[in-house]
Amino acid sequence: MTIAADAALREEIETRLAAARARTAGLTDCVEDADLIAQHSPLMSPLVWDLAHVANQEELWLLRGVGGREPMHPEIDPLYDAFEHPRATRPTLPLLPPAQARGYAREVRGRVLDLLERVAFTGGRLVEAGFVFGMIAQHEQQHDETMLATHQLRSGEPVLSAPPPGPAPKDTARLPAEVLVPGGPFTMGTSAEPWALDNERPAHVVDVLPFYLDATPVTNAAFAEFIADGGYFEERIWSAAGWEHRQRAGLSAPLFWQQDGSGQWLRRRFGVTEPVPPAEPVMHVCWYEADAFARWAGRRLPTEAEWEKAARYDPASGRSRRYPWGDDDPTPAHANLGQRHLQPAPAGSYPQGAAPFGARQLIGDVWEWTASDFLPYPGFSAWPYKEYSEVFFGTEYKVLRGGAFSADPVACRGTFRNWDYPIRRQIFAGFRTARDGDLG
Ligand SMILES: [Fe+2]
Repeated sequence: MTIAADAALREEIETRLAAARARTAGLTDCVEDADLIAQHSPLMSPLVWDLAHVANQEELWLLRGVGGREPMHPEIDPLYDAFEHPRATRPTLPLLPPAQARGYAREVRGRVLDLLERVAFTGGRLVEAGFVFGMIAQHEQQHDETMLATHQLRSGEPVLSAPPPGPAPKDTARLPAEVLVPGGPFTMGTSAEPWALDNERPAHVVDVLPFYLDATPVTNAAFAEFIADGGYFEERIWSAAGWEHRQRAGLSAPLFWQQDGSGQWLRRRFGVTEPVPPAEPVMHVCWYEADAFARWAGRRLPTEAEWEKAARYDPASGRSRRYPWGDDDPTPAHANLGQRHLQPAPAGSYPQGAAPFGARQLIGDVWEWTASDFLPYPGFSAWPYKEYSEVFFGTEYKVLRGGAFSADPVACRGTFRNWDYPIRRQIFAGFRTARDGDLG
């Protein structure tokens, strides 16, 4: 690495860590201590747990792992081990109170910045290209996204605000409903992206049959049609497991939706109740609801490979891009990422972020459920720890792609894989649908 490249990498890491910490502060300084300690949903940790957990992971991986330092407070390690305590039980733990949690995070960060000044990015895979620093920045941003979901579940007066995204561009009305992605091989996953996590690796060739994909995510208006048509009560369009869950959980609309006396749909968003915006991508639906909607529409969910081919394959060069628009990092013109807004932009937004075949908003706005289970790619090896991905592989989880308004660019790539249970609705997830193309 040249001296200039080395300095640029140090600066990049510092910027990414600072951005994550600023977001954490924004999500925790806006509420009283009692609110930080409270559990707003059994699905979520108290915010004060996330606060100390991100600091604890930072200490573990950077100060102890890279810096070789002694543990600062070994007695608290087990409290913040996500595998030792499920979310529902975390409020009963003797957690650090808010002031101590903030102090701990500040102290760890100060020492990390000292370490960053003198660390060498050579001599091991963990530090090469700054990987473990990037992993920690991603980890904090992923917790920030989880904390944002906690805010969405929290009741009470609104405490978060952000400007809304702009209106859809004028050409949206002329957008085709679906785009054709031709069949053939493409490169899925990555071996080159320096901060990609183990489950995105290695790059490998996948053959995909021709298929059509919705040009944009499914909108609230389309989903309201599904509801009005009785989609929630038509057993034949649901998978067996989905139907059973629908009945048990009493699902009849997306989470946070309610109908007023006149039949209009309203939704609660970060404490604000407002009419459901018809052009916005639908959100807070579980995989089973997405799957049933697709069947109702005479379609299906795209597989993960189809999604990635539509998002990355460049037919002109035959190679896979980092992002739908090319290899450049996302800007506000490309995608709705990084909590700049507190909602997805209308379907058809971000024409500059379109993929080669014309699909828009594959990155940002809403996570997109895919048909696929969360499985390792051929040649996968766990790195740097099994608990990041490997322990989750199997048929229990479905893959989500593309990030959302709630995901930071550092934790959102064309290859990035997210996963969750098919019943989960508190995440910022929507979907788009697909159908087989002609084999000609
Ligand atoms: Fe974590």
